Amino acid sequence: MKKVKILSTGCYIPNNVLTNFDLEKMVDTSNEWIITRTGIRERRIADKDQSTSDLAVEAAKNCIDKVNFPKEEIDTIIVATITPDMLFPSTACIVHKKLGIKREVFAFDVSAACSGFIYGLVLAEGLLKIGKSKNLLLIASDVLSKFVNWQDRNTCVLFGDGAGAMLLSSTDDEDIEDGIVGTYFGADGNYDELLYIPAGGSKLPASFETVQKNLHTIVMSGKEVFKVAVTKMVDSVVKACEICGISVNQLDLLIPHQANLRIINAVGERLNIDPSKIFINVDRYGNMSASTVIVSLDEAITSKKISKGSLVGLVAFGGGFTWGAAILRI
Ligand code: UT7
Repeated sequence: MKKVKILSTGCYIPNNVLTNFDLEKMVDTSNEWIITRTGIRERRIADKDQSTSDLAVEAAKNCIDKVNFPKEEIDTIIVATITPDMLFPSTACIVHKKLGIKREVFAFDVSAACSGFIYGLVLAEGLLKIGKSKNLLLIASDVLSKFVNWQDRNTCVLFGDGAGAMLLSSTDDEDIEDGIVGTYFGADGNYDELLYIPAGGSKLPASFETVQKNLHTIVMSGKEVFKVAVTKMVDSVVKACEICGISVNQLDLLIPHQANLRIINAVGERLNIDPSKIFINVDRYGNMSASTVIVSLDEAITSKKISKGSLVGLVAFGGGFTWGAAILRI
């Protein structure tokens, strides 16, 4: 089996800022309610003409340019998203075209909601280890603002847009210590109707009626999602650490999915992790779905919160339900 190396990370965050005060003018809410119940102060919103692939391409360029990686050597593109540009072709194929890569690649999307980046990492690791890929571009990109019901205060205050990318490579070098140390992941489809978009698929295709009834936007039972999210994120970190043969307090930084500051705090408390070792940017971006953990990892590296040799845990939870954790050595 080959070893897997992380060559670079990158991200792209749209410029438009939507503050809680802006939302006060749109729905019956308040800055105070949003901050105390979620920890979110503002989020970013993509332009009208920016699609998921546009954000993905910017994140990919940022990632590739940091290490001047020759793009023609990328043989696999995976995009984790639940807001694809269209049902098909995959956003990964669209990204291949927009990046201007001339060679043929292996390209596909992963649908695992907020856990999409972790799921993508698991697939990336497998492909690289068995030699099916040499240089792999893993992107998470979501533009949830286009699938939010802007009249529903229960959901519209929570989400934001963004994209992150990671470049990974396989190597025969047995001595490398950085890369993916271990992963843990799972799903339970019995929770499908606690967090979903009812229409737009083959079950309920778009029609005048589905549009009139607003069935193309996110529906969430927040309280129920909250409880399972805490349990599964804690469980995922514990199990991923067990698989790697380390204890949770050996992590230099934990990067949890950023859906709600109260979820993050509850996870930190249950894992007994010092708050200074938990990465937080939910105040600035809200919940960016699959992009959250990779954008956060990139920010943690760029801001030097972590450096070469750091042991980092990523953990996510999302619709499906899906969950997962990855332990990385940077
Ligand atoms: O990415 C993974 C998926 N997402 C999550 O993990 C999110 C999980 N859930 C949550 O983060 C929280 O459940 C929410 C932030 C969605 C809601 O917080 P909560 O403390 O669970 O509030 P709640 O649902 O119990 O609602 C309390 C009250 C309700 O009013 P009534 O029925 O008690 O009169 C809501 O209508 O707060 C009301 N409310 C709001 N009030 C002002 C809900 N949203 C708002 C709002 N502004 N934006």
